[in-house]
Amino acid sequence: ERVIRLLTDKRAGRPMSGPDIEGLVKDFTAGSVPDYQMASWLATVACAGLSAEELTALTAAYVDSGERLSLSSSRRPVADKHSTGGVGDKTTLVVAPVVAACGIGVGKVTGRGLGFMGGTVDKLESIPGLDLELSGSALSAQVADLGLAVTGQSPSLVPGDRMTYALRDVTGTVDSIPLIAASIMSKNTKGIAVRCNSIVLDVKYGDGAVLPDRAVATELARTMLELGRSFDLPTTAVISSMEQPLGYAVGNGLEVREAIIALSGTYVEDLTELAITISALMISTADSAVDHDRARDRVREVLSDGSALRMFRAFVARQGGDVGFVDDPSRLETAPHRLVVTATEAGHVARIAARRIGEAALRVGAGRLVYGAPIDHGAGIVLSRRIGDSVAEGEPLATLHGSDYDQLESLADVVRGCFDISERPPGRPDVIVDVLR
Ligand code: URA
Repeated sequence: ERVIRLLTDKRAGRPMSGPDIEGLVKDFTAGSVPDYQMASWLATVACAGLSAEELTALTAAYVDSGERLSLSSSRRPVADKHSTGGVGDKTTLVVAPVVAACGIGVGKVTGRGLGFMGGTVDKLESIPGLDLELSGSALSAQVADLGLAVTGQSPSLVPGDRMTYALRDVTGTVDSIPLIAASIMSKNTKGIAVRCNSIVLDVKYGDGAVLPDRAVATELARTMLELGRSFDLPTTAVISSMEQPLGYAVGNGLEVREAIIALSGTYVEDLTELAITISALMISTADSAVDHDRARDRVREVLSDGSALRMFRAFVARQGGDVGFVDDPSRLETAPHRLVVTATEAGHVARIAARRIGEAALRVGAGRLVYGAPIDHGAGIVLSRRIGDSVAEGEPLATLHGSDYDQLESLADVVRGCFDISERPPGRPDVIVDVLR
């Protein structure tokens, strides 16, 4: 009855009190508010928004729903990053080992896919054996000792967010500024899931992001910077473009493979550049003795001298994963079928419909259409061309990977249609368009 009143109150525009929001999240995580009522509340919030007070209360309620974990026993400064998500966004897989190789601790709590975008946990699960359900104490011990740990949200870590996130994924309530802001910041605010010295947010806009519009993404960034201030956490936001997928690979194992290539020092267009900037910001904001330019030099060094890749390998080994997949990343391409989509005309790639690429990847098996569905880790799409590249008639635009050849065939035209080919070469778009503090 109380929940129904909260739902009708919110719809009628009456403000919710802190204790009301806290009670709702608590009862939902305890199982006494069913999914359908919570989903209905999330939908109402997605339409009606939250005031600054309600948003702080929701973030605090997520924080209070689980274990609080401090990495302050670590001998080193600790930094975090979080992305709002985008098609082909494997930046964390590169940034986390790079930053750790530079001596800054990273203890990352990360999520599964959301809507048409993949999630770091699903991606990393392509490495057999990797344990992504670390307890809070295992996470902090590993950060203190190795410098890098990555985990999914185990039942005790921010369950309020973990449970609403899974509902949002399948109820069309992903693209809400307050829901994204509370979700991201609850996993990172000081003194909660992972206590860190600073956080860098990668706020994405464009067709392949949750929020296509740059101005709306900037508003989300400002909302999170404000939340960071109210929780006393130094926060920086990078505004980055998702007008095309990030890098070439879209799909879990395929993206891990691409991240390993970038970690080996090979320049992967846009991915490497974004990873260098985010890593350098994490280092320079967590350790005031290192300025941004020096941090960038250090990041380039660990990418070229092999130490970033060695850190990734050590993390995989430490969390029980098969390092054979790191040493030979082609083993991550496991789908039994491939289909190459070719251009029907010559020209230059002017536009790539990133969201439709993400949706097609999801349909070949890389994501979920219903709650808790399994993922095909080998499935996905690898682009052969990005915006600004030239292509001759009959040359490849992309390769679809999956386990059902008929389905790949049925999506070939959809994927071909995601590429706009123009006669004149367009400019290559910048991946980073702003940095806000
Ligand atoms: N990442 C999150 O953790 N939550 C969101 O809502 C979006 C991206």
